[in-house]
Amino acid sequence: MTDTIHWREAEKKRDTLSLRGFTCTTPREGRAAPPLHEDQVQRYFRHHAIAAANRSRDQGKGGRLMIAEDSQGIAAAYTHQRLDPASFPTKLALALDFMGVQEVVRELCFLAVATRYRNNGGALADEAVTEALYDIVDCEPEAERIYVLGQVDYNNKASMKMLERFDFLQLTQGVPPPTGDQRLGWWLRIVDPPR
Ligand SMILES: CC(C)(COP(=O)(O)OP(=O)(O)OC[C@H]1O[C@@H](n2cnc3c(N)ncnc32)[C@H](O)[C@@H]1OP(=O)(O)O)[C@@H](O)C(=O)NCCC(=O)NCCS
Repeated sequence: MTDTIHWREAEKKRDTLSLRGFTCTTPREGRAAPPLHEDQVQRYFRHHAIAAANRSRDQGKGGRLMIAEDSQGIAAAYTHQRLDPASFPTKLALALDFMGVQEVVRELCFLAVATRYRNNGGALADEAVTEALYDIVDCEPEAERIYVLGQVDYNNKASMKMLERFDFLQLTQGVPPPTGDQRLGWWLRIVDPPR
């Protein structure tokens, strides 16, 4: 794929329609529907991401929704926001108990590439993660250390492989139903911005 990719923050008026058409998953061979964990991400970007980022900003959590475009429309997207350590599950709070004053936590909430970029060695996925980490640092200019957290469905192998390429560590493991609502495992990457 030789298209030039351009990253920018999504805007409600300009991007609502093209986000509605963002396609990051399709049914796998022999199946009627896409994998559920991918379909949920697609639905999030199509229907909720813009409102959620705006709400997050209104609530002082600094929500960001960034999109990359090529000549066919949205090629990739990601969202992140600041997390309040008080809202962490106990296991996670214990893991981050050593947090100091100039340390913040941001969640890399959702990240996806359009299907035309999948099965292609992860080049655009890696560009998206790199962009997200730089954007996270830009959003926290006072921070001496940033804990970047991500949640991944126990079934989402492509996502886990991507995070491993960026040295994220798996803190907790997602487990299949019917074990409550613990499908998602937590992943962590510590970023110390250059001073
Ligand atoms: C997570 C993501 C960005 C990683 O991208 P990547 O590193 O380029 O990896 P790929 O998507 O190429 O992963 C390859 C796998 O996806 C499968 N795949 C490729 N195209 C697909 C499609 N259109 N529909 C469903 N699965 C597809 C491949 O068969 C392969 O599976 P396998 O490892 O079982 O063989 C990308 O998988 C994605 O956008 N997924 C959908 C959204 C998502 O789940 N995001 C993560 C949680 S927020």
